Amino acid sequence: MQSIPVRYAQTLKEKPADETKLGFGKIFTDHMLIMDYDPEHGWHDMRIVPYAPFSMDPASMVLHYGQAIFEGLKCYRDASGALRLFRPMDNFRRMNRSAARMCIPQLDEEACLEGLRTLLAVEQGWAPHAEGTALYVRPTIIATDVGLGVHVSHTYRFFIILSPSGAYYQDGLAPVGIYVEDELVRAVRGGIGFTKAAANYAASLYAGDVAERKGYAQVLWLDGVHQRYIEEVGSMNIMFAFGDTIVTPMLNGSILPGITRDSILTLANDFGYTVEERRMSIEEVFEGARSGKMTEAFGTGTAAVVSPVGSLCWKGEVVRIGDGGIGPITQRMYDALTAIQRGEAADPHGWSVLV
Ligand code: COI
Repeated sequence: MQSIPVRYAQTLKEKPADETKLGFGKIFTDHMLIMDYDPEHGWHDMRIVPYAPFSMDPASMVLHYGQAIFEGLKCYRDASGALRLFRPMDNFRRMNRSAARMCIPQLDEEACLEGLRTLLAVEQGWAPHAEGTALYVRPTIIATDVGLGVHVSHTYRFFIILSPSGAYYQDGLAPVGIYVEDELVRAVRGGIGFTKAAANYAASLYAGDVAERKGYAQVLWLDGVHQRYIEEVGSMNIMFAFGDTIVTPMLNGSILPGITRDSILTLANDFGYTVEERRMSIEEVFEGARSGKMTEAFGTGTAAVVSPVGSLCWKGEVVRIGDGGIGPITQRMYDALTAIQRGEAADPHGWSVLV
């Protein structure tokens, strides 16, 4: 593989002094990776350059029709100081599945990982040390054709930026209240719900904002046809524990196939829990919460890893999940997965990859 050219920044930014106050996705490193696509050259000219704004034509397609996809993964510093990525090829594979649905040309996944490794080698000083922190990695592709006709772009830019980050939620692993959205929907089968298209996140903003103003952290999304079956929570997948059985909505085309989701289901199997991926109605969830048979609920995603659900509000009724605190399965899953991510536990599935 050809080496990737690096143009170093003339001046470097000051690194955050207090790693307990990083927040999520607010600080960016000194360099970024860029690669361009045109039909003649394919994906070409992968390079690392100083982090800086892009200059774009106001008629660029992405700005009007939203042909854009992204990924999110984390790079952890282990106890020996080495950097580790968590299942990075799964992210580039998923990016290619998103690309196929969004008419974006396929990437060379190996080349992208190699590019990311080079970027991380340049930026290794930015990976934070403190517990609960990581260097968040954001690969993105945008359509760059200039013009207002609605059609597939012929040119694209791929880029990776890095952000030293703390917990996604300010309060870390703390139970949150969730509002069950029974009017607006995030995605429908046949649409783009299974992709990490920017548009899915745009579509979620309004309901999220309304829920927040009502005092809830996020919304629970129901399916777009019956408005009855559970899909996702905020921008995360969701799981429910009924004693030792963990139930999560099956992947149906409108749900994002989360890498954290897959990791937790795999660990749950390893630990001897019964795992069910199936259709789940909101009635079943409420009945389970009311009767106490449903003992825990938690969101799963790269950013927060695991996010316990303390209560749910649906059509005016509020139910508490378990005792409203962090359940033992939720805590166990968080501890087990973050230990593997940080290189502190046996990793039988080979998920944690040294940079
Ligand atoms: C995640 O949980 O990693 C997400 O997808 C949220 C991200 C868009 C900030």
